[in-house]
Amino acid sequence: MRLALIGNGGVGKAFIQLLLDKSGLLLKEKMDVQVNYVLDSKGGIYNPAGIDLMRLTEFNHSGLPLSRFSGGGSDQITFNLLLANGGVDVLVELTPSNLLTGEPGITHIESALQMGWHVITGNKGPVMLAWHNLNRIASDKGVRLMVGCTTGGALPAINGGLIDLAGADILSIEGVLNGTTNFILEEMEEDRCTYEEALVKAQQAGIAETNPSQDVEGWDTAAKILILTNILMNESKLLQDVAVKGITALTPQDIREAANNGLKIKLVGRASFQDDQLIISVRPEALPPEHPLSHANGKNKAVRFVTDTLGELMITGGASGTRAAAAAILRDLLFIHRTGR
Ligand SMILES: NC(=O)c1ccc[n+]([C@@H]2O[C@H](COP(=O)([O-])OP(=O)(O)OC[C@H]3O[C@@H](n4cnc5c(N)ncnc54)[C@H](OP(=O)(O)O)[C@@H]3O)[C@@H](O)[C@H]2O)c1
Repeated sequence: MRLALIGNGGVGKAFIQLLLDKSGLLLKEKMDVQVNYVLDSKGGIYNPAGIDLMRLTEFNHSGLPLSRFSGGGSDQITFNLLLANGGVDVLVELTPSNLLTGEPGITHIESALQMGWHVITGNKGPVMLAWHNLNRIASDKGVRLMVGCTTGGALPAINGGLIDLAGADILSIEGVLNGTTNFILEEMEEDRCTYEEALVKAQQAGIAETNPSQDVEGWDTAAKILILTNILMNESKLLQDVAVKGITALTPQDIREAANNGLKIKLVGRASFQDDQLIISVRPEALPPEHPLSHANGKNKAVRFVTDTLGELMITGGASGTRAAAAAILRDLLFIHRTGR
């Protein structure tokens, strides 16, 4: 399998490290994985014989752009060159999630699929905005578009839905889909601190990003519930169809009042029918202990499906962080290998 990796950030670097750590497993699976291209925004590395991943991992600690990598690194290695050269089986797309335009991810993914390459991505923007079109191209070309990393990294929400809920009508989806906000809410409850104090703790623990707005304002959860809804319920909803409210306005008093009534506040993404109309929302909800989502604690995520024939199912837990996200990319790679396409 010849791989091209676009995006050498937290997840991209962790993916390269994971390929090394899991070399024994890849051998057992009879997977001959060769990474021929790795690109960042300033250039990249190309080696037709396969990049030395051990050297790349060491180089990645330097923080230098890939163009400075001796042995194939150049600022002339671009996505257009990759398309012109060809010779790739799987494109792994890990550029930042742009929820407004989906770019540059949409262009990367669509071009790769048109080339007849499989694509694996963790990038939410293209999947949220263009799933049906991209998946149709994949299907026309007889390749796979795997997006298992986009709805909570390790949480097998989308693949679980696609594979194990196949044939059932999904009547509703609800989830605690953002680990950062879940951690902050728990801190506010347990340490009786303000939202601002809990956010600082999350940042100090490396859980929240320096700019956490996509998480705390609810947009990350909105993207994930939209992806789940559009793919698993075959809808074509947009971000403007989702009523989004984050956790930034919650006060210690809100949390305390809920706790006094035996309730836990969670940021819930939900897609469900009301009077035959699909309503999609993201908002803090005070859940009673008998609600299964109220038990998704700490950085954990959870998703609950209600179906017509398979009943109610919930998936919860999973590791978080870049290594877990990289592992979600690896599991999609294995799926392509094991299913033969
Ligand atoms: N972090 C997680 O735990 C996690 C979990 C699930 C999904 N995801 C998704 O996975 C993707 C990658 O996340 P990340 O945390 O690794 O992001 P990141 O650290 O911001 O890295 C993004 C990478 O993409 C590169 N890039 C940006 N524009 C590019 C372009 N036009 N052409 C080529 N490369 C380009 C950047 O290069 P420069 O450094 O040169 O700018 C950087 O190497 C995102 O879409 C994210 O939402 C992340």
